[in-house]
Amino acid sequence: MTSPVEPIRQAQDWTPDSWQKKTALQQATYPDQAELEGALQALQALPPLVTSWEILSLKNQIAEAQQGKRFLLQGGDCAELFSECQPSIVANRLKVLLQMSLIMLHGLEIPVLRVGRFAGQYAKPRSEDMETIDGVTLPSYRGDLVNGPDFTQASRTPDPKRLLQAYSHSAITMNFVRGLVDGGFADLHHPEYWDLGWVEHSPLAEEFHRISQSIGSSVRFVETITGQTPGALRRVDFFTSHEALHLPFESAMTRQVPRQWGHFNLSAHLPWVGLRTAQVDGAHIELMRGIRNPVGIKVGPGMTGRDVQALLKRINPDDEMGRVVLIHRLGAANIADQLPGLIDAVKATGSPVLWICDPMHGNTEKTSNGYKTRHFDNIQAEVEQAIDIHASHGSRLGGLHLELTGENVTECIGGARRLSETDLVTAYKTTVDPRLNYEQALELAMLVVKKHRSIA
Ligand code: PEP
Ligand code: CO
Repeated sequence: MTSPVEPIRQAQDWTPDSWQKKTALQQATYPDQAELEGALQALQALPPLVTSWEILSLKNQIAEAQQGKRFLLQGGDCAELFSECQPSIVANRLKVLLQMSLIMLHGLEIPVLRVGRFAGQYAKPRSEDMETIDGVTLPSYRGDLVNGPDFTQASRTPDPKRLLQAYSHSAITMNFVRGLVDGGFADLHHPEYWDLGWVEHSPLAEEFHRISQSIGSSVRFVETITGQTPGALRRVDFFTSHEALHLPFESAMTRQVPRQWGHFNLSAHLPWVGLRTAQVDGAHIELMRGIRNPVGIKVGPGMTGRDVQALLKRINPDDEMGRVVLIHRLGAANIADQLPGLIDAVKATGSPVLWICDPMHGNTEKTSNGYKTRHFDNIQAEVEQAIDIHASHGSRLGGLHLELTGENVTECIGGARRLSETDLVTAYKTTVDPRLNYEQALELAMLVVKKHRSIA
């Protein structure tokens, strides 16, 4: 197989605009095309949000994950909000991801590749174009990149200025994340700094403290025996990802860079294609097929083994390593039925993929009191089944894709604190999908480790 950083070849008959000849689902309708064009031109002139060498480094690490040498942890909000671009919210989300990765690193004994669903997760697919409340019909909220969540004509009308605001908020978030990480926030000597204040009160406290102390002393031990300069283990990497949904925005950020062949999407390291837009002949797959980034593709209950084979052929015709992450999100009730066939179909192609599980989107339901929620038990059950099914089909679950937050929200039911349907009202803050709160996220990390160990 080919090394991921070796030039392969530019996709045939592709340009950053070739998607325009294909069917583009889930796009916003802007009232003023000239204003949209103006915003896109302004966007095109701005510097990239990420660099090509970071993208290629991630691709290399995904290639290693495909060989079982790393575990990928991807997580963050369902929909980031401009109004939540706040220091504590960004830092807490980072802390949860760091803590989860620590638990996994410790338990799985392999490096964890951290990919935030942040610094650009501003566009949302919706099942209905319009929403009606009390006889008033307005466009659906499509994420802060497009319009506002408030149910008013002004807020719901797609506004091109938001493209530049999204760019700025992504850049501000990235800048803060990079500063925290470079400044020692993620120092492995002191994982106790990452505590979120929940620890003393949590049923999981003891276990987490044991893990974090053990990591701290292992780091010191390794430094002592290898004579490494203090600091070599201080830095951890964070990569960014978002759903590459808004095609004019994504193609404005798709560019060539000096001294590299081909094109990169420079708005995130790992763009992914959502389930609703993953048609092999669709515009989203067309745009993604020509870039050199690694690309995620959601795989859901409606997809057949043949669909996935066709997608792989289109997006990775040269079987490049590190290029494709398949994110299955089948639901706890469907995974046993559907995943084995999908694994076999992918294996039959011989094309390398990293399989990761999104146990969130196949397990969404509505409570009797009207909340969109997910049961922790179903999330856990889907991940545990995924680990088993991959293992028994000669494959390996290589990562997780989660919707989570560092805040103490009450959006998912269950977990160590046994949140119930009636608790949801306490702190239900999401504008789109329910997220794991920090404690549920850590609990899931611990359960995943237990499950992996039980089959190892
Ligand atoms: C999402 O990740 O928020 C999402 C919409 O997922 P999917 O495309 O899998 O439905
Ligand atoms: Co979601």
